[in-house]
Amino acid sequence: MSHTPTLKLGRSTATNVIRCLSGIATSEPSQPVVLTPIPGPKSQELKTAMAKVHQNPSVKFFVDYEKSFGNYLVDADGNVILDTFMQISSIPLGYNHPELVALHKDPRFITAAVSRPALGSFPRTDFADLVKNALISIAPKGLTHVQTMMDGTGANENAIKTAFIKYQTNRRGGKPPTTEDLISCMNQELPGTPHLSVLGFHGAFHGRSLAMLSVTRSKAVHKVDIPAFDWPIALFPRYKYPLEKFEEYNRAEDEKALKSVRDLIASRKKENRDVAAIIVEPIQSEGGDFHGSPEFFRELQKIAADNGITFIVDEVQTGGGASGTLWAHEQWDLPTSPDIVTFSKKALIGGYYYKDEWKVNEPYRIYNTWMGEPTKLVTLEKAVEVIKRDNLVQKTKDVGIELRRGLSVLEAIYPRLIFNVRGMGTLTAFDTSDTKTRDKLLDIALARGLQIGGCGDTSIRFRPALIFDEPHLKLTLEILERAIKDL
Ligand SMILES: Cc1ncc(COP(=O)(O)O)c(C=O)c1O
Repeated sequence: MSHTPTLKLGRSTATNVIRCLSGIATSEPSQPVVLTPIPGPKSQELKTAMAKVHQNPSVKFFVDYEKSFGNYLVDADGNVILDTFMQISSIPLGYNHPELVALHKDPRFITAAVSRPALGSFPRTDFADLVKNALISIAPKGLTHVQTMMDGTGANENAIKTAFIKYQTNRRGGKPPTTEDLISCMNQELPGTPHLSVLGFHGAFHGRSLAMLSVTRSKAVHKVDIPAFDWPIALFPRYKYPLEKFEEYNRAEDEKALKSVRDLIASRKKENRDVAAIIVEPIQSEGGDFHGSPEFFRELQKIAADNGITFIVDEVQTGGGASGTLWAHEQWDLPTSPDIVTFSKKALIGGYYYKDEWKVNEPYRIYNTWMGEPTKLVTLEKAVEVIKRDNLVQKTKDVGIELRRGLSVLEAIYPRLIFNVRGMGTLTAFDTSDTKTRDKLLDIALARGLQIGGCGDTSIRFRPALIFDEPHLKLTLEILERAIKDL
């Protein structure tokens, strides 16, 4: 096993491949260039400096964002790294896409950055247009409205609040809260503060805020020491792969999970602690890239509808095209859209789409100072144009198929180190034998200039930008194989 860098082409080569204009890189390197161990001495130094003023235990290495371009990031030590993790699945067009960089000249971008509005009260005159161009133009079918928020966690928090408000409004026959509701809620008593809950799943991740931690169950480190709401936790399927070989087993997994959902909803109802919302990820990403079948999700939606429960699909990690469709849930063939779909990451701005009937009418119930970021809408407007023009969703679908084909070849050669290859688009993953091996493989790949992500206990996930293409795929598979051999 070796952690020493092998693709050492020298600092001058590293600089040559990145031609810079006004300090910002304008072309993509053709391969990784590793000059130091990663993190290198400069990153270590910066981490020590950071510790004096800021939390830093999760920092892996520092990035030179001016030099980074396309699928490649350049770290503080000049290492050029092929990035298939892309800031935790978030940058849709890779680093410093020239058409996005050019937006710094757009007066809308400048004014939104310099005079950032309190969006809920004083939106820009062009706000509705921006929302239409950036977000409504890519809205999931059937979802007509959108609410911008700060991030994925804020999107989920407010989606859940919206579901609670809807549940109580339904109970009141569509009327606003009564005086009794308004008085009792100030003491956190019934009826103004209802005993409602949100049903989530084992292995789920929806954010780390106080409320979201009650539906996040991917890792103990996120939850320990923090009080949680007593909300029901259902089973999520755990499939065996390849799917076609384990059809019966996987169907039983669906059934087991759906039964747990039905049972929990029924028992909560009996206790007068109704479930008001179900929140679910298309792929439990942080939890280990666990998938559910279209049948599972269709039935889940039906259970929600039958019980007057809001069906929230958390597409924070899966949305924006990486699944091979703009929204992963589009591949489930649902009879009607989910009630709410949350997003962030590749959508550049947090928020949620919702059906008309979920609109909250009273002011300040869904509100905070910034409620999103117009610079992100200006950026997303252009990014959407590029994604559509360059057919990047279809390209992602195609390259995802090739990625899984390549991983399956590796699985056939190294079956004890790579298995359960699965994915939608480039949201692709595989399992390794144990946590230690997984972590070692990630370290060795990084030492060879390839950044991949870990998830769950033993899984490795790919989350590249939508511009991840054949040459990047070829290098990814080559470096991964060399890393496996080095284990
Ligand atoms: C599915 C899902 N939901 C919510 C979140 C939280 O989003 P954010 O980190 O933007 O708050 C994440 C973040 O990884 C996520 O993957």
